[in-house]
Amino acid sequence: MLGGKMKGGETVGSSSSISPLVSFVLGAAMATVCILFVMSASPGRRLADISAWRSSAEDTTAPLHPQEVTADADAGDEQLVAAAAGNFTVVAAPAPAPVQAPASPYGDLEEVLQRAATADKTVIMTQINLAWTKPGSLLDLFFESFRLGEGGVSRLLDHLVIVTMDPAAYEQCQVVHRHCYFLRTTGVDYRSEKMFMSKDYLEMMWGRNKFQQTIVELGYNFLFTDVDVMWFRDPFRHISMGADIAISSDVFIGDPYSLGNFPNGGFLFVRSNNKTIEFYKSWQQGRWRFFGKHEQDVFNLIKHEQQAKLDIAIQFLDTTYISGFCQLSKDLNKICTLHANCCVGLGAKMHDLRGVLDVWRNYTAAPPDERRSGKFQWKLPGICIH
Ligand SMILES: *[C@@H]1O[C@H](CO)[C@@H](O)[C@H](O)[C@H]1NC(C)=O
Ligand SMILES: *[C@@H]1O[C@H](CO)[C@@H](O)[C@H](O)[C@H]1NC(C)=O
Ligand SMILES: *[C@@H]1O[C@H](CO)[C@@H](O)[C@H](O)[C@H]1NC(C)=O
Repeated sequence: MLGGKMKGGETVGSSSSISPLVSFVLGAAMATVCILFVMSASPGRRLADISAWRSSAEDTTAPLHPQEVTADADAGDEQLVAAAAGNFTVVAAPAPAPVQAPASPYGDLEEVLQRAATADKTVIMTQINLAWTKPGSLLDLFFESFRLGEGGVSRLLDHLVIVTMDPAAYEQCQVVHRHCYFLRTTGVDYRSEKMFMSKDYLEMMWGRNKFQQTIVELGYNFLFTDVDVMWFRDPFRHISMGADIAISSDVFIGDPYSLGNFPNGGFLFVRSNNKTIEFYKSWQQGRWRFFGKHEQDVFNLIKHEQQAKLDIAIQFLDTTYISGFCQLSKDLNKICTLHANCCVGLGAKMHDLRGVLDVWRNYTAAPPDERRSGKFQWKLPGICIH
């Protein structure tokens, strides 16, 4: 899930034992199930939401109930609908009690977004599972970077929505943060770390992509960040006002609007507008057009045609500011964020990010002239960082 492990010698998970057709059908079914189950499930009130949603869903599907349709095959349409809706006399009675809250298939998503968003409806999002929430794990390092960061970057935590993928991570999130959301999905066990390009990995990455589509469709801009990104300074000032999409680069070739850059979806800003909504639709379709590829590859495969079709402005972020282990920014005076990309394995990421934070701590404690002198450098090499 820690996106952008596009380089290096990863293990490629194989699903070759499953025929393409079967896995296509399974995948399609799973995508449908995911859409249906994107809802929050905090204890208490949440259960009410879910059952309200369930019952309204049952109402609308009732007319299709085979038995009732057959039994009333000769009846007029009105009768058919009434009978199908349950008991004729009950339906004829006063109007059915309205569902209390407007039931949403996304549970409390809109509530959480509203609370967390800036005045211009922007949220920062990250997505985690249990393996990353344990004390001393990646989530801790992530938070620590905000606290050690400069220029008020820690205030951005007010706008961070943490999307959790399993109930335990959701509970853990609520202990440490105000804006937590439980994205309920099925078919994948999200608790553990996923092998790059395994079937679960693909499912998870495409699920994440679908969820991002939902956010822009709800009218929110988002800056998605992997949790293995350290935030040292406010990155928003490097996102152009004119960009519909701004994406970090594994390798930045010097021109922010050249499609020749190598994107990394682990740090991705998307402005909500109808160009980006269309873009996400094509992106999701790309899952089936280029079956078996992950969303980052598909982004690369569709970027040219989509840019031509939608006139969408895609900005690739300069690794001097929005950096990663793939192309490391060595200027601590400029760096805003640092992603443990080009690095496989939770242990390796943690090791190197701890080293990064140690150096950053010393850097921020030093007087301005020493900082400017450039004497502070990352401790190299680490396991991945070099
Ligand atoms: C309709 O209502 C009657 C009386 O309340 C009940 O006996 C019958 O089982 C109900 N039928 C259905 C299909 O719910
Ligand atoms: C795009 O959005 C604008 C409003 O922001 C709307 O007027 C326009 O019809 C939309 N275009 C399409 C193609 O949906
Ligand atoms: C940070 O500073 C302390 C004190 O000067 C030093 O002992 C330590 O090695 C430094 N750590 C790093 C990672 O540079």
